[in-house]
Amino acid sequence: MTATTIPGACGVRIVGSGSAYPERVLSNFDLEKMVDTSNDWIVQRTGIHERRIVNPQTEGTFTLSRDALNKALDNAGMTGSDLDLIILATVTAEMTCPSTACRVADAVGAAPAGAFDLVAACSGFVYAVNVADSMIRSGRYKSIGVIGCDTLSTIVDYEERTVSILFGDSAGSVVMVRDDDPTVGCRYQTLQSDGSMWPSLYIPRRDQEVPAGDENNPVRMGNLRMQGREVYKFAVTKFRDVIRDALEKNNLTIDDVAQFVCHQSNMRIIESAKEKLGLPDEKVHVNIDKFGNCSAGSVGLCFDQVWQAGKIKRGDLIVLVAFGGGLTWASSLWQL
Ligand code: UT7
Repeated sequence: MTATTIPGACGVRIVGSGSAYPERVLSNFDLEKMVDTSNDWIVQRTGIHERRIVNPQTEGTFTLSRDALNKALDNAGMTGSDLDLIILATVTAEMTCPSTACRVADAVGAAPAGAFDLVAACSGFVYAVNVADSMIRSGRYKSIGVIGCDTLSTIVDYEERTVSILFGDSAGSVVMVRDDDPTVGCRYQTLQSDGSMWPSLYIPRRDQEVPAGDENNPVRMGNLRMQGREVYKFAVTKFRDVIRDALEKNNLTIDDVAQFVCHQSNMRIIESAKEKLGLPDEKVHVNIDKFGNCSAGSVGLCFDQVWQAGKIKRGDLIVLVAFGGGLTWASSLWQL
């Protein structure tokens, strides 16, 4: 699905941003003691030096999401009761019922605001931002809290080196409100998927779910399985394609865009897109070295870091880009 702004409709403004991540650091040197890997290999192949992971006794998707949204509300000068709706993008909800969004809504005092979880893996935050923008533009909702959060450390098999080195935990959140200026907000968006490629990134719960050919996958049942090379090839192409598409369809050049806020999948994937498209360093914020790949938490955390650092301001154009399990990919061109 692709959509451009509906003429005459209201606009949407991001009025607050926040993020949260665990204190606990898992470094490459820690991983060296857990699996057959090395700091050099991880840095060279991914750009990651360390990542944050939750203490599962006290932290999880619920606590990080709640904290990120609370910070976004503070930043906006709003309270939970100002929200009509909360959308939480995650593949690591503690429970399928209730949604984590409902518990977050309760915790921030937003009830009876609507609340639901959205599953689009690493693309989740961009999917949620696009859905929220469209819901506000429909005229039915005035203010929506959007959260992207994953705590993949809770479903990573730390006896397996292929997946365990890549992921970290974090949450990012924005508060979006209706604005009278229809040119503000999401000017162009894509939400896309190719379900035929699902076996390259999946979390099986039962033997029946395991696709043919993957029966001997050493990753334990219930944990994240990934065909790294396949996902890499897909990601490297999609990263370029979605940025090119957003610019071309809107007659824009790289110079028109203040920041490209990108999923932190792998440093080599980011570098490849930067090189192929000619994106300057200062327009692509990178935090994968310190946080790893945080799945649905990545883009929201990046957005918050550039927002809090004052690298983006009212009137700027930014592009959000993400891709991941599903397989899914999404882009969002925003006028702030
Ligand atoms: O967020 C969206 C979803 N995920 C992604 O975007 C991730 C995309 N994929 C990747 O980032 C990369 O594929 C990985 C970082 C997961 C793996 O890097 P790679 O360069 O694709 O490595 P590979 O799987 O092709 O393995 C290369 C070699 C193999 O050894 P041989 O066959 O060449 O002897 C692996 O056995 O590296 C070996 N290897 C490792 N060695 C040390 C694989 N994992 C490790 C490891 N430490 N952790």
